[in-house]
Amino acid sequence: MDSNKTNEQNCIISTLCTIAGVKGKCHVLCPHWITIHGATGEGGRLFAANIPRQYMHTTLANSPVEESQPEAYAVIEKYVESFKKMFDTALPEKDRIKSLYLCSHITGTGKTTTAIAIGNEYLKYQYVGSIKRGLKPKRRPVYFMSMNELQTLYSEATRPNVPKEIAERASGRYYENVESMKNVDLLVFDDIGLRSSTEAFTSDIHSIINYRNTMIKPTVYTSNIPLQDIGSMYSKQIWDRTRDMCLEIAFSGESKRGFRR
Ligand SMILES: Nc1ncnc2c1ncn2[C@@H]1O[C@H](COP(=O)(O)OP(=O)(O)O)[C@@H](O)[C@H]1O
Ligand SMILES: [Mg+2]
Repeated sequence: MDSNKTNEQNCIISTLCTIAGVKGKCHVLCPHWITIHGATGEGGRLFAANIPRQYMHTTLANSPVEESQPEAYAVIEKYVESFKKMFDTALPEKDRIKSLYLCSHITGTGKTTTAIAIGNEYLKYQYVGSIKRGLKPKRRPVYFMSMNELQTLYSEATRPNVPKEIAERASGRYYENVESMKNVDLLVFDDIGLRSSTEAFTSDIHSIINYRNTMIKPTVYTSNIPLQDIGSMYSKQIWDRTRDMCLEIAFSGESKRGFRR
């Protein structure tokens, strides 16, 4: 370990941490770093949250998207400020946070990056706020899932003519994921507008969304279909309810995919 090198650039909780950047204290053996990022930097709570590896350091503060989506970020920064209040004081139920719906017709406007940044901020405030109040931080307060990943798991679990053990394992993984998506405090559900493969799969999506609505659990959705049109893809009733609980945020402009600064 290089004892001159501190670790605050890599660690998502550094903006809230009193030893961030302190030589001899802020390093890869810090127990908070290991809890959140894992001993390898690719484990810990971020791994448990299923955050894709390339986004494990993404927060609102370092998101490259902010510059080109100032209006969206103004709203989102306010939204994230409510996490701080929520975990520093344990807000009453009526003040629970809303769901978000990040939307643009085209890809590459920064929706996924931003949705994950919000998820990581939630994880960060949940962790630090719990410690401040003398509570044990939750192991998995946030879960990330993309429609594509869930659909792949579903196809593996339902593919015909595979050995029984393999099918059972795939099915187990699929249902574990569905359970996590239902029960986690904040779900980041990426690409909800992607067309689903079968009716049975669509019905699982409904049960996840419906359960979360009933339990008043917030979800950050990303989509290429405006909120007012998504009902025609899924059940209208469920989306009428979801719409009431959701703040829609438009991502404007052209695709920044492959854009390097
Ligand atoms: N507005 C932006 N400014 C700078 N980079 C961006 C912006 N939007 C997206 N990117 C970059 O482009 C890539 C794709 O972004 P992503 O978040 O996947 O967009 P979307 O989910 O809207 O398709 C990422 O590497 C991201 O960092
Ligand atoms: Mg995306």
